[in-house]
Amino acid sequence: MKIPCSKLQGIFDRKEVNHFLDSLANPAASYGECARCRGSNQTEKHLKKTFVNTITAGQTVNDIFVARDKQLAHKKDGDPYLTLSLADRSGGIKGVAWDNVEAMNKAFATGDHVRVKGNAVEYRSALQLVLQQLERLDPAEIDARDFIPATERDPNQMMDRLIRISQTVENEHLSRLLAAFLEDKAFADRFKTAPAAKKLHHAYLGGLLEHTLSIAMLIQAIADHYSGIDKDLLLTGGILHDIGKVYEFSYETHIDYSDAGRLLNHIVIGVEMLEKKIAGLNDFPQDLALVLKHMIVSHHGTRDFGSPEPPKTLEAIILYYLDELDAKVTGVRAFMEAEDPDAAWTSYHRVFERFFFKGEAGNSDSEKD
Ligand SMILES: [Fe+2]
Ligand SMILES: [Fe+2]
Repeated sequence: MKIPCSKLQGIFDRKEVNHFLDSLANPAASYGECARCRGSNQTEKHLKKTFVNTITAGQTVNDIFVARDKQLAHKKDGDPYLTLSLADRSGGIKGVAWDNVEAMNKAFATGDHVRVKGNAVEYRSALQLVLQQLERLDPAEIDARDFIPATERDPNQMMDRLIRISQTVENEHLSRLLAAFLEDKAFADRFKTAPAAKKLHHAYLGGLLEHTLSIAMLIQAIADHYSGIDKDLLLTGGILHDIGKVYEFSYETHIDYSDAGRLLNHIVIGVEMLEKKIAGLNDFPQDLALVLKHMIVSHHGTRDFGSPEPPKTLEAIILYYLDELDAKVTGVRAFMEAEDPDAAWTSYHRVFERFFFKGEAGNSDSEKD
């Protein structure tokens, strides 16, 4: 039976007729308010209009950002000034306040959402906002999606696809292990939301799942190419290789490393999570657990990049190269997309230590001549 909203006043006018129809379409779970009324009771969210990547010199900005890296310093004449970074999902910009400094400094802490009013100016070839006003906002009034970038793909669809791939694993122990993770709601919720990185590749909500699904699909595409590969082991290791990332990052207001992430990193966290799950399964073979753990331990390739041991099985070697491939292609593509769309070359990438070419092949000036 459909239950109309308890807030209906009686069907007297067109507005209440629509309300009645709405409440039948989105009924209360039991006697109570309909979804429309429950929605209207929620705190009104601030509408963000100006994103960092659209700010230009000379513009007056009045909008909400996450404030970080707050620093109170002193000019030569002893007067204080405040610097901070202001960020949203599109990027970050430096903020500086010369006036009203003490009050602004007291008004917020690093990580808070603040509404600022200020002018964008260019200083030493970089934009910054000179702030006139700053006010801290209640997190309940903020739409988190304005501040943390998220995957453009549907996490539930990606999860369904990953589950279907995991169901192709025939080894009974590995199949039970994968199900123990993917059917664990607490794990699955974090796995669908977590980013895969703070910077460089898949550095957005849902990025971990996107990266893991990509690895699983790459494994499906190449596993039969080489003989002597245990495809079930490779798929299981591929799906589980970065599970530690669900605890490596915090992503409430912005993406950062958690304490566990900084102290242990996702390789150690992942091995711990794997051990716990295996302990809950009957008769999981020790030798299988060992080679699976090795895949997590070695997937970064070398000690310099966080792996205590380099890959020493065929499955671990393949996983290492596929992980590299997916991280590099996705990271470089995101870097290219964030750059000037009209320029043939990107700016210098400090981590990769090179400029990237995004012009069209065979479209050079010399050919045009
Ligand atoms: Fe990793
Ligand atoms: Fe990875």
